[in-house]
Parts: sequence; C-alpha cells; structure tokens
Amino acid sequence: MARIIGAVATTHVPAIGKAIAQNNQNDPYWKPFFKGFDYVHGWLAREKPDAAVIFYNDHGLNFFLDKLPTFAVGAAQEYRNEDEGWGIPVTRSALGDPALSWHLINSLVADEFDITICQEMLIDHAVTIPMTLMWPGESWPVKIVPIAINTVQHPLPSLARCLRLGRSVGRALESYQQDLRVMIVGTGGLSHQLDGTRAGFINKEFDQLCLDKIANDPESLTGYSIHDWVELTGAQGVEFLNWMAMRGALTGRVTELYRNYHIPISNTAAATVVLDNDSEEARVAA
Ligand code: DHB
Ligand code: FE
Repeated sequence: MARIIGAVATTHVPAIGKAIAQNNQNDPYWKPFFKGFDYVHGWLAREKPDAAVIFYNDHGLNFFLDKLPTFAVGAAQEYRNEDEGWGIPVTRSALGDPALSWHLINSLVADEFDITICQEMLIDHAVTIPMTLMWPGESWPVKIVPIAINTVQHPLPSLARCLRLGRSVGRALESYQQDLRVMIVGTGGLSHQLDGTRAGFINKEFDQLCLDKIANDPESLTGYSIHDWVELTGAQGVEFLNWMAMRGALTGRVTELYRNYHIPISNTAAATVVLDNDSEEARVAA
C-alpha cells in the first residue's frame, strides 16, 4: 500500500534558480532562505520518499490565457523543463510515474473532479526550483505526479475546492496498491504581487496566520473568497491554493515539523514548511 509520509511546501521564486546557478547560497541576502533547507534535507534523507505529488501553478509554459485548465494532472513518463522567460538554467527532466498518475486521474474523475489529463507536460520554475532546493546537486530520487492549479486566469478555484481536491488525492493515494512512500509538495506563495500599483506588496501578519492554520486548521481559511485573498496577499499570493491542496492530501494526524519565513526574496514573502503525516495505518500498525 502507498503511504503518505508528509509534505514540503515552499516558495518558487525564479531568482532562487539564479542564486543557485551563481552559488550565492551563503550571501547575506540568500542565507536565511537557503538555511531553511538544512532541515528539509535531513527529513528527506530520513524519510526517503519514492514519489512526490506536486501541486503547483503553471506560469504560461504549458497553458496560456487562451486555454487554461482549472486543474491539470500530468500522466507523462518524463517532464521536461524549458525556460519560460526568466533566464534561469534549464534543469534536468523529472521522471514521471504514469501508473500512479492514472490511478489518481481515475480516482479524481470518479470523485467528480473534471481534471485535464496531460500525457505530455512541461514543468516550469514552480516545479524545478522546489526540486532543486530539495535535492541540490544530485539526481532527483523521486518520480513525480505534477498537478497544476490555475492561479492565473480568473475565475480561480476557491480555497475550499483546492482543499477538497487535495483530500481526493489523499484518498486515492491511500487506495493505491503499490508499496510506495509518497510525499506531497505545495509550491508558491506566500504573499506577493509582481505588477501594478501594489507591486512588492507583502502581508507578514496574514502570512503568519496562514502558517499557523495550514497544519491543523486549514478549514478556517476557506471562509476567504479569492477576492479577499488577492486583497490580503497580493495578486500572486493566490498561489497559496497549491498549499491548500497539499494540506488536503495529508490524510492522517498532521504535525508541523519545521517552518522558515523570510522577507523578502525578490518580491515574495518566502516560506518553507515541513509537515508530518502520521497516517491512520501507521498508527494502527505501531
Ligand atoms: C516571483 C515570484 C513568483 O511566484 C513567480 O512565479 C515569479 C517571480 C518574484 O517574487 O520575483
Ligand atoms: Fe509564481
């Protein structure tokens, strides 16, 4: 049986990719952010995930304003990265797990999530930056299932809908017959706005509330509308939808193991969180 071991959620700012390429991790600007990954590396080394389900948002590499699925699930053997315009080095490809993807797709559709099925899918910085942060300078030891959530073209799915999408993925993973250790990843956020008169907008107080609630009371965040969220967190702060789906996929008793919050990285309030998922099955077996 597959086991959901926990989750890592992190910011995916492209400038991080440039800092890695230029080896700037220890510069005073970057150190407080990159230090946050020491804990993540230890956790990954201990937990040894086989697969990662990654909730992220595509930034115009696969989908543009002309065609934008609300939810899209990758079912490819391999996911290639391309430079979608930030000028950061193109990374290695990530390996897929089509059998796991199809299991999730079948379960999601049976559960009335009308997702878009992508047997070909490119991955942008919202996948490759978190992967490179988690496994720096080595090959990526997990197979991935990328799930893209529209955070770009309004109307966006609600926070409640994304939490439910995650829960559906969590239930599907728990019914997967293969012995796999699966981690969940949520990327993007926290508060940031890249353009318009509020470019550079950050809301530390509200970010802290989100970090306080995401582990043990994500439901309390579902009362905010998308418009509230844009007002409170900036136009791109809606990437928190990926965090809601990530949290929904943790089906057991969830504990926050680690949190790092640092302002700013580029225009973004940077956050990294590690959540443990003590699954029902593991508790019964213990
Ligand atoms: C930045 C943040 C993002 O989430 C993104 O996708 C691109 C840029 C930034 O803060 O520069
Ligand atoms: Fe982004």
